[in-house]
Amino acid sequence: MVARLRMGLIGGGNIARAHARAHRALDLCDLVAVAETDRDRGRAFASEIGAAWHADWTNLVARRDIEAVTICLPHAYHAAAAIDAARAGKQILCEKPIATSLADADAMIDAARAAGVCLMIGHTHRFRKEHLVANDLLRSGCIGRIHYARDIILAGRETIAPPGWRSVTALNGGGVMMDNGIHAADRLLWWMGSEATWVTARLHHATEIVEDEDLGVALIGFASGASAILEESFAVPADRSRCDATFFGSEGLLRVTTWSGVGFARIGEPWREVPIPEEGLDGFEAEIAEFVAAIREGREPSVTGEDGRRALALIQAIYAAAQSGAPCDPRSLAETQRTSSHSREAAQRTV
Ligand SMILES: NC(=O)c1ccc[n+]([C@@H]2O[C@H](COP(=O)([O-])OP(=O)(O)OC[C@H]3O[C@@H](n4cnc5c(N)ncnc54)[C@H](O)[C@@H]3O)[C@@H](O)[C@H]2O)c1
Repeated sequence: MVARLRMGLIGGGNIARAHARAHRALDLCDLVAVAETDRDRGRAFASEIGAAWHADWTNLVARRDIEAVTICLPHAYHAAAAIDAARAGKQILCEKPIATSLADADAMIDAARAAGVCLMIGHTHRFRKEHLVANDLLRSGCIGRIHYARDIILAGRETIAPPGWRSVTALNGGGVMMDNGIHAADRLLWWMGSEATWVTARLHHATEIVEDEDLGVALIGFASGASAILEESFAVPADRSRCDATFFGSEGLLRVTTWSGVGFARIGEPWREVPIPEEGLDGFEAEIAEFVAAIREGREPSVTGEDGRRALALIQAIYAAAQSGAPCDPRSLAETQRTSSHSREAAQRTV
């Protein structure tokens, strides 16, 4: 029998609870401790799941009875927590986005590599069944060659109120693009199966519920020659919320609606709704199962630190393009920042 993975949760808010629920259903791991700065929230959550509570994550990662952590913190703290965890030899599942800057993402990837631990990024959308069905159909060529896609995530203003740390740029790393936009960036790169080569974007501050943008649109070009629109909002009335993507191919059109389903039509044929398998794991459960399997099998997880960095580079390119008004190439942005963080390290080594 394979030993159960002994884990700690860093951050004890909403998504940590979603992870805890998935752990309960999955039953592959023991949740040993929770690190949460809010004493009442931390104690209550830890006692509900039968774990110990620490105010400070450094005490959690110092525990010898923990092999792995899940980081469920505001974005600006992902890098510091992941680097501390890696240095303490813990395997890491980090919520999206990997970090708030490419330099921080590099430092996390380097720390995990140096410690020989897994760094997986919680891009949950890759583990949703309807998204996997869509991916399989797109890869099988059911609509031919993809020319254009439209990925839209509109979150009802009421559903995110009060936005708390999400409204603070220093903690979120931006506005809606760093929140739901990072889901869209990662899933678009995955579904398109091609690198993004240029981006133009406009961002808006429509309702001022967050310090940075709460509405934005980007036009993205891919190496394959395809293009995509990515549209994000935190600022629509709740009953206008939506999360879906539409793909226009040489032989048809496919639409995937998150939490709902997938349909497609080939030109000249009727629309078909595709059944989503009932069996098998979904969402957070599937994500955690993949994390545990990658550790047990000593392999890279299906969503690596580099994947998280690529999605972040696309979002950073959207910010750069919106600010300058000129197109930005996410690959050169990613490379320049990688080079500058490496030259910084080299400079530090020579001091
Ligand atoms: N995968 C998804 O679908 C999904 C959905 C929502 C949120 N998220 C991600 O999950 C992460 C957390 O978001 P959330 O919605 O749970 O936020 P949240 O505000 O509900 O929870 C964050 C918790 O971290 C705690 N915290 C803050 N600083 C801390 C520190 N230094 N040490 C320990 N605890 C600290 C806060 O007190 C809070 O309880 C973010 O990265 C977010 O983007 C992912």
